[in-house]
Amino acid sequence: MPTDSPLTLLGGLTAAEFLHDYWQRKPLLIRGAFPDFESPLDPDELAGLACEEGVEARLVEEDGPDGPWQVSHGPFDEAVFGELPERDWTLLVQAVDHYVPEVAELLANFDFLPRWRLDDIMISYAPPGGSVGPHVDQYDVFLIQGLGKRRWQLGGKVADDAPILGGIDLRILERFEVEPGDDWVLEPGDMLYLPPGWAHHGVSQSDDCMTYSVGFRAPSADEAITSFADYLGEQLPASLRYGDAGMAPPADPAELDDASLERMRRLILATLDDPAQLAQWFGRVMTQPKYPDQLVPSERPTDVDALVAILQDGEELLRSPGSRFAWRAGEGERATLFVDGDGIECALPLARALAADTPLDADLLLLEGAAELLARLLDAGSLGWYDEEE
Ligand code: SIN
Ligand code: CO
Repeated sequence: MPTDSPLTLLGGLTAAEFLHDYWQRKPLLIRGAFPDFESPLDPDELAGLACEEGVEARLVEEDGPDGPWQVSHGPFDEAVFGELPERDWTLLVQAVDHYVPEVAELLANFDFLPRWRLDDIMISYAPPGGSVGPHVDQYDVFLIQGLGKRRWQLGGKVADDAPILGGIDLRILERFEVEPGDDWVLEPGDMLYLPPGWAHHGVSQSDDCMTYSVGFRAPSADEAITSFADYLGEQLPASLRYGDAGMAPPADPAELDDASLERMRRLILATLDDPAQLAQWFGRVMTQPKYPDQLVPSERPTDVDALVAILQDGEELLRSPGSRFAWRAGEGERATLFVDGDGIECALPLARALAADTPLDADLLLLEGAAELLARLLDAGSLGWYDEEE
């Protein structure tokens, strides 16, 4: 995607300008980001998804039968929706892009960001007054108004330890003060970008309010350090350990002296400071599927010749919804293709083609190693046949 043309999606900013001035720094309201936006999903279809096994859905009732801000988790019985009050509740469904191809197509608009930063598209539905309360997310989010109206109020950047309401299942801020001017009603096609840590409060202003949240995740230092250490730990030999050959006699045998700490520090830093291992771990961790259980490996290994014949017959393979792909260049024309938490060495053009949006058809077979790699990904469940998905 060119980064130097003004984008309607970004209110006439170029991707480079948006990334420089707003991304991770400050909110941006874009009126008409999606001109003539038509919600690919209607409220009944969203409620239908929330009733399906395996779909992550929540219902938030501000004045629930069992107390304020009551949260219940799906899958729901359809009857639940008939029993809800006329106002002040919200249904939230995660990862709708995994289930509705027309929703997944919205993601192409965000190709100015690394794909592996994407979390999912969550869609909310609310009658008048419905909200999840003033809160803070740790994600970057683009809030697209899909149907009806929602009033958004922003409360500025909030400290990590800002007090939250106790005794409920939601993280609602105890104090929320609207910054002057940061108060808008969004209509279909309008979009609000919010960086992490920015207090916000969105309240439905219409009978049928649907909001699409395109969320981008970033691993915390806590998760990253633990996960990288685990990844390295599995590969380090038992013989690589603290060593103190040549040390001076200790002044006091009970003391942890500076020299001992320095030996330990060097061992840890030398082990962690390995760019090749870091790349292998990072690619794996950022392509872990959101719902690993939804990956369905094939029952029998794919016969590579049969796969080639099917592709040559005009069939296409599909990337499984929810499968994540990324690549990193290696030496020469080689690369590592990362798929759903795995790292596979292959030819660079093949890695690029698989991680892009290009069709997976017989043309791919011109690339070195393609048939074997496609068979492997089909077996892992990261790819499927086009017909099976229809
Ligand atoms: C909503 O769509 O109701 C909530 C989205 C959010 O605040 O993150
Ligand atoms: Co939020």
